[in-house]
Amino acid sequence: MSKEHAMRTRLIHGDKHEMNPFGSLQMPIFQTSTYQFESTKQGADRFAGKEPGYIYARLGSPSTTQIEEKLAILENTECAVATSSGMGAISSGTIPFLQKGDRLVADKALYGCTFELFSQQLPKWGIDVEFIDFADLSAVRKALRKKTKMTYCETIANPTMKVVDLEKICKIAHDKNPDCICVVDNTFATGLICKPHDLGADIVVHSATKYLNGHGDIIAGFVCCDSKYYPQVLTNGLKNITGSVPAPLNAFLLNRGLKTLPLRMKAHCENAMKVAKWLEENKDIEAVYYPGLKSHPQYKTAKKELAMTGGMIAFEPKTAKIAEKMMNNVKLCTLAVSLGDCETLIEHPGSMTHSTYTEEEMIDAGFNKKLIRLSVGLEDPDDIIADLDQALKAALKK
Ligand SMILES: Cc1ncc(COP(=O)(O)O)c(C=O)c1O
Repeated sequence: MSKEHAMRTRLIHGDKHEMNPFGSLQMPIFQTSTYQFESTKQGADRFAGKEPGYIYARLGSPSTTQIEEKLAILENTECAVATSSGMGAISSGTIPFLQKGDRLVADKALYGCTFELFSQQLPKWGIDVEFIDFADLSAVRKALRKKTKMTYCETIANPTMKVVDLEKICKIAHDKNPDCICVVDNTFATGLICKPHDLGADIVVHSATKYLNGHGDIIAGFVCCDSKYYPQVLTNGLKNITGSVPAPLNAFLLNRGLKTLPLRMKAHCENAMKVAKWLEENKDIEAVYYPGLKSHPQYKTAKKELAMTGGMIAFEPKTAKIAEKMMNNVKLCTLAVSLGDCETLIEHPGSMTHSTYTEEEMIDAGFNKKLIRLSVGLEDPDDIIADLDQALKAALKK
């Protein structure tokens, strides 16, 4: 595929180098753990990187190659590594670069398991981790005064929907230490809405479980980076440390999901905007956090940085009790964690995805027990709104 083709064309066709086996339209599922060598020399040459070709499925397979090529296209990076989960991607894209005595500066609002990895695990290995508010550039400047090996944030933060100025943050980090590795979790923004690498990020990680696959039927992830970081991510991150390799069937399904990503993402964003506006106009909803609303605290940054405004909304009814009752009364929306699926999913970060935060840490990161997170699906938006409306009304009844 030529670089001149549009993104939606390239996400369907990928970078086809040669015809698929037997001329099959779809790349078959390579259900094999290992690959035969013609000779010991060929085996040795492949291990030494002197000859291209597959060795063992933990090191790659045709099933993973095709989706890795598509992710590199999507994120405009030289390379990508497919992993078996988003956490596999986050571990493979950060741990190989950190060692005892290194310093990591991360945003306070992170997916709950990422926060747990950074706040509980990394300090045990002698890594100094500081959490700050990346929306506050003076706090970023202050934190990066000390030599920092890595920065970490999410393009649109889970669950607060904070949008940080990636271009400025990466510039501050690299001015201070050219070797600082800026890592961005781009799960909510998919690469279609924002390309962190174009804004200065060194490593972009994804939970492909969400929009990239889009159908709620697999767990997967990606690390996208340039060739400078690729060997470390692949060899130390994926091969030696995490072993987080996607199953061939999952890679196949992910390839299928990627073909419709541009169409799905546009519809998610349009639906989310409609739902967010309805929530904002509802007198029984106290706060709505959606990057497409003028009331969003980083609306200007979102306008500058995001091509579309995303499919995720967070909002607060007046009390935590009403929030709980509302979630228990949805009929069309599904009470479930995860996001980016065709179905609208509703969940409670305070007791579910972000229960790894203490109550004080939640407040410090900008959310509380009233917050509801909504992944707006692809149903008719009026049906989603009608369901939220009836659930809220039921919750408000004594
Ligand atoms: C922003 C973000 N990053 C990473 C992850 C982890 O992904 P996975 O569940 O695929 O391991 C999640 C999961 O919800 C997430 O929301």
